[in-house]
Amino acid sequence: MTTNRDSFHSRIGFVLAAAGSAIGLGNIWGFPTQAANNGGGAFLFVYLIVTLLLALPALYAEIYIGNQAQKNPVAALGDACSKVSRRLGRNAGLAGLLGAIMMLSFYTIVAGWMLAHALSALTELLGFIELSQWLATSSIERNLMFTPIFILLGAAIIHQGVNKGIEKWSARLMPVLLIMLVGLIAYILQQPGAEKGLSLYLIPDFSQVTNPKLVIAAMGQAFFSLSIGVGGMMVYGSYMQKDKDIGKLVLSITALDTCIAFMAGLLIIPALFVAQEAGQQVFQNNELIGEGQLIFHILPELFNSMGSMGLIVGFGFFSLLSIAALTSTISSTEVPVAYLVEDKDISRRKATWLVSAVVFCSSMLLIAFFDVLFGAFIRILTTIMQPLSCLFYFIVVGWLWNRGNKLRDKGLQKGRKWLPLWGNYLRFVCPVLLSVVFVNVAILN
Ligand code: PHE
Repeated sequence: MTTNRDSFHSRIGFVLAAAGSAIGLGNIWGFPTQAANNGGGAFLFVYLIVTLLLALPALYAEIYIGNQAQKNPVAALGDACSKVSRRLGRNAGLAGLLGAIMMLSFYTIVAGWMLAHALSALTELLGFIELSQWLATSSIERNLMFTPIFILLGAAIIHQGVNKGIEKWSARLMPVLLIMLVGLIAYILQQPGAEKGLSLYLIPDFSQVTNPKLVIAAMGQAFFSLSIGVGGMMVYGSYMQKDKDIGKLVLSITALDTCIAFMAGLLIIPALFVAQEAGQQVFQNNELIGEGQLIFHILPELFNSMGSMGLIVGFGFFSLLSIAALTSTISSTEVPVAYLVEDKDISRRKATWLVSAVVFCSSMLLIAFFDVLFGAFIRILTTIMQPLSCLFYFIVVGWLWNRGNKLRDKGLQKGRKWLPLWGNYLRFVCPVLLSVVFVNVAILN
């Protein structure tokens, strides 16, 4: 069943798709908000360290397992654990799949907000003021309309397959995103007040760097941002030709993702201070007002204060977020779809509809019980499920999977001196580091 698998047709196609998965609301919305709340430069500093020490190795492990198996995450983890317990591996894969569905349930809601705000700017530009106001105001009706629209957009791309859908669209959308981001940064940095934000963001306060809350926030952010631990990167790895030099690809994906998060900080944090300069209250007791909702209140007002030019900037900004969210959505959707197609022998079309229907139901549940479920889903996924999955990946590549594993098998390491070193790092150091942080999460929660 795995012989006729669809695949990425080029290395750059793979890198763009994986970077498309990584780069999303987590970078452009989550990272700057977290950085602004956690001391700016200090957060940036810790984030970079955690990304290098833990998130990058975890991404490597996830992609490596998928690439070797050339199968969906459930089957791939089953294969990698076959000597110990295939069932254990498959269950871990299914847990990741559940994580992907959970991620989609809240992510499509937030992505729907982005889409609504983009359309709000557009409709105002066209003179439909009432409609524009409705689109900019959060309401159940708006959620009920835009969440399904977003699910359908993702389904339409997934349905077209790996090469024609994921690879082509990621390659088209990612460069647009980069260009828009650069343009917006250039604009915002010329506004009064921007330099205050810039210095908060770029000059770390080192007394904050060891604050456990900050470290945990940075780790959760790094895992979420690199899309690790739900199988999305594993399934993309499986669509790449076997035995490619994964190390370099993982480095490129991490660099791209981190670069976009950094750039988003260059945009959002100065933008907050520009808003402050213009008389808006942005911080209260050193924390951003309204947590993650800030972008939806402060930024549109800021854009409005720029006149009709602001509407174009607002449209650009929220379109950028919608595009970034779409390429992330499709990688999570691909996890259950690939599983259903390969292991349950369902057609791609049917699998896409089935998964979309499940995501639809669970996101509607979240909308219905928003106050109880929304935050809980995000917390459970990012602070428990994703770190646990990563720990499992480290244990798989470091301990459970021996034959054919170049990190463990001396015969496969010839001429590559760094491989045994890298293997030992993933085997010993990463699980310990991750466990230390994880225990802290449990205690602090
Ligand atoms: N990395 C994506 C972002 O930063 C979110 C994501 C998480 C995507 C997990 C896929 C899997 O927005």
